[in-house]
Amino acid sequence: MNEQPVVLAVEGITKRFGAVTALNDVSLELRAGEVLGLIGDNGAGKSTMVGVMSGALRPDEGTVSVDGVERSFANPAEARAVGIETVFQNLALVPTLNIAENVFLRREQYGPGMLGKTFHRMHKSAMRREVREGFERFGVTLPPVRTKVSALSGGQRQAVAITRAVLWGSHIVIMDEPAAALGVKQTELVLSLVERLKAHGVAIVFISHNMQHVLRVADRIAVFRLGRKVADIDVHDQTTGAHLVGLMTGAA
Ligand SMILES: Nc1ncnc2c1ncn2[C@@H]1O[C@H](COP(=O)(O)OP(=O)(O)OP(=O)(O)O)[C@@H](O)[C@H]1O
Ligand SMILES: [Mg+2]
Repeated sequence: MNEQPVVLAVEGITKRFGAVTALNDVSLELRAGEVLGLIGDNGAGKSTMVGVMSGALRPDEGTVSVDGVERSFANPAEARAVGIETVFQNLALVPTLNIAENVFLRREQYGPGMLGKTFHRMHKSAMRREVREGFERFGVTLPPVRTKVSALSGGQRQAVAITRAVLWGSHIVIMDEPAAALGVKQTELVLSLVERLKAHGVAIVFISHNMQHVLRVADRIAVFRLGRKVADIDVHDQTTGAHLVGLMTGAA
């Protein structure tokens, strides 16, 4: 049982798109150092929930609280400012820039994390050193930080995007299908990074269609069906993939 503080709480979230109710009275809680898996069939409302948590969408009803403070985000930058970073599938990395340059990209949108404090005084060499040390701290093994992102594998790019989020001070990271379309080795890189971040106290929302991945990294799994949360399961209670699939489809 995780006794860490609740870092992110959404309560009674309803979101409609015209006649479609994409989310219907959904509540979720995320604690420090916890991985919450979000699963559900196509159209279940997962991405809509990501949008609400990351500040990209405004809910019609319900509240979002970060570290116990209710927030109303007008845009993703406001969510980032209080420590919520979302790593989308397209990653928002610039392939023609190197790893270190990508870590510093869009820096003005980030909070006062480890790198934010020192940024103004840094030149390129110092910047590269900071990035190197940051990766070491989270046990991420990558090619030298001057390597262009275009030369990285999909898994290595994911690792850059995810680590960038925490280096800039985010303590809540939302990952939308982080291991989709990755090979076995690259998937391992991403999943083991999730485990290490968790050990550092980062709270993670992990969305995936792959039951094996969710079962490996998640402490709890919320199952969505047609806009409602139909189950919130502690993974340590011997949850099987088959049981989860049943909940997703309504067969269970
Ligand atoms: N911008 C939008 N305008 C209209 N309808 C939308 C919009 N975004 C989502 N919806 C609808 O809301 C419902 C939930 O969609 P959502 O994208 O959240 O599902 P999802 O669980 O992420 O599905 P998938 O696994 O396919 O990514 C769907 O019926 C979808 O068609
Ligand atoms: Mg989606």
